[in-house]
Amino acid sequence: MNATATTPSRVARTVRGQPTSDGAGVKLTRVIGQRGLDMLDPFLMLDEFRSDQAGDYLAGFPNHPHRGFETVTYMLAGRMRHGDNQGNSGLLTPGSVQWMTAGRGIVHSEMPEQENGLMAGFQLWVNLPAKDKMSAPRYQDIAPEKIPVVEAGEGVRVRVIAGRHGETVGPVSGIAVEPLYLDVELAPGARTAVTLPAGHNAFAYVYEGTAALGPDGAAANVERGELAVLERTGDELLISGSGVPTRLIVVAGRPLNEPVARYGPFVMNTPEQIAEAISDYQSGRF
Ligand code: CO
Repeated sequence: MNATATTPSRVARTVRGQPTSDGAGVKLTRVIGQRGLDMLDPFLMLDEFRSDQAGDYLAGFPNHPHRGFETVTYMLAGRMRHGDNQGNSGLLTPGSVQWMTAGRGIVHSEMPEQENGLMAGFQLWVNLPAKDKMSAPRYQDIAPEKIPVVEAGEGVRVRVIAGRHGETVGPVSGIAVEPLYLDVELAPGARTAVTLPAGHNAFAYVYEGTAALGPDGAAANVERGELAVLERTGDELLISGSGVPTRLIVVAGRPLNEPVARYGPFVMNTPEQIAEAISDYQSGRF
């Protein structure tokens, strides 16, 4: 085996998520897709939802359309029922992932299937290349037990949702931007390293504790609720936990470098394609 030189990955900047609400009034934290970070090509939006107050989530996300991109739901706690206008339906349970390629269009709903208790997780929007925006819709529903957990050193557990960590490959397949999606859990004081795909845009979002990200002597402290945008030149991210249990997601994707025309749940390349999406939706062609 050849020894491969690695370049340490550094934090370019950090962004704090902003409280907002969406759907029929679900309270959430918008991390990508807000003033501080409009997008990080190919990622259009990242929402964290986390509440044990039923009033924050009970209204759910009734029927709404999507065209031109992918929605990725990662459930940490709680149960969400998913259904669409093509007869697909499923239950998202804790630890499960749904990678939905909306393509040319679906109309779906995402409704809580609980009336109390904690509901927590993420929804990430991933753009599709121009050539795939009108492809047939596709679902990858991944049960929790299908997501490999790598014991990556003392007190480190890495769930591999998409992409590769060492020799372990995640279950999500066939995605245009060749994503990496890891959920990293560190015991107090634990350290680990994550290999990032070369040339991808990458971020880390800390949702529990505090993580030091980057090489020793030049690491940035990233607190719960903060997203770190990583410099694109690096390919090895060093992660150190703090004095408390720490959890973060590390996500990377190949940038598309294509024009983005965006209107609510439609993400296309030109304003004409947005007008077409609205017209197709209004006349029931989804
Ligand atoms: Co949706």
